[in-house]
Amino acid sequence: MVFGPGLSSPSEQLLVLDDADAQLQGVIVIHSTGLGPAAGGCRFWEYPSMDAASADALRLAVGMSYKNALADLPLGGGKAVLQRPSGPFDRKRFFAAFGRAVNSLGGRYVTAEDVGTLEADMQSVSAQTRHVAGLPRLAGRPGGDPSPWTARGVFLSMELAAMRRLHRPLNECTVAVQGLGNVGYALAQMLHKAGARLVVADLDSHHVSRTVATTGAKAVSSDEIMSVAADVFAPCALGGVFSDSTIGSLKAKVVCGAANNQLATSEDGLRLADHGVLYAPDYVVNAGGIINVAAEYLGWTSRDALARVEDTARRVARVLDFASSEGLSTDVAADGLAQGIIAGGARRLSMVA
Ligand code: NAI
Repeated sequence: MVFGPGLSSPSEQLLVLDDADAQLQGVIVIHSTGLGPAAGGCRFWEYPSMDAASADALRLAVGMSYKNALADLPLGGGKAVLQRPSGPFDRKRFFAAFGRAVNSLGGRYVTAEDVGTLEADMQSVSAQTRHVAGLPRLAGRPGGDPSPWTARGVFLSMELAAMRRLHRPLNECTVAVQGLGNVGYALAQMLHKAGARLVVADLDSHHVSRTVATTGAKAVSSDEIMSVAADVFAPCALGGVFSDSTIGSLKAKVVCGAANNQLATSEDGLRLADHGVLYAPDYVVNAGGIINVAAEYLGWTSRDALARVEDTARRVARVLDFASSEGLSTDVAADGLAQGIIAGGARRLSMVA
């Protein structure tokens, strides 16, 4: 078992990758396999040290276990973190070497794209192993760009959260969307179609103008979007958006968006609750992407995968109900439920062994 710094949940395995010929340095972390193969993307980034890369992988792998468990997927959690070489390197060779490392785990870990990796990289991986997803989509099968699936799950979660906290449907709400990239743009289209009023911001003016043109949204600056008068705030850009100072200026009473790791610290969940905000936990509402990846790897049909995405609001309701019955903030409730599901999977596995 391997413990990451500051993490109470140990990982099952940490595999160090070091292939000088391919300039490959990195780690694969398998956090849990009780529910199925450990699934989680491959992050390719310049880290200050291998210790920093390992710490990130250990933290991200726990997150994947929780996300997969609460999405009711037959998958555990894992993550690969690869150090980006500082000079020129042969990308195909690099990812082929990574593919061999994935293959050496015999299916205990399944990889896919994450920050810094591309579909072409997963094709290099797939020449070495079948334990990979995020490959070019085959006709009539799940796979390909997961963003529309993610946006659909966020939309369904938002409908539920608005009804719970504001007792209103979305066509009576103003929604502030931060970040209008793949997910934010698709979400804005769905909200517009549902009759919601939109206020939007993005650092990229092209992303703002295409959204305004198609939805009639009001554009504001990226500095203003969190504090505008709105009923719902949808973070769809980067993580860590909430802190002591930003929570104080938030006017929305519901937070529901796609961005990963929205809470900078675990105290921020409590701060949001104390501020009267219903926070729909990020990794529960944005699971559409991993459902799409799981469907590709496990060979489900698009219809199966869509049915699971459509079930997102039920899973969010389960977390909100648990939070209110136990007097917990919603993020803590989500983690607690996920830990229970993972422990149940581990118990079943030990009984079979
Ligand atoms: P993206 O890169 O297509 O879009 C992000 C957008 O946010 C960009 O348009 C960027 O200009 C904008 N942005 C960055 N900083 C900003 C700021 N401070 N203020 C306003 N706008 C800002 O990314 P994508 O795929 O839409 O993902 C959005 C978030 O959702 C990310 O945090 C991602 O990790 C998360 N996510 C995405 C999934 C997917 O299926 N694409 C699945 C699960 C989570």
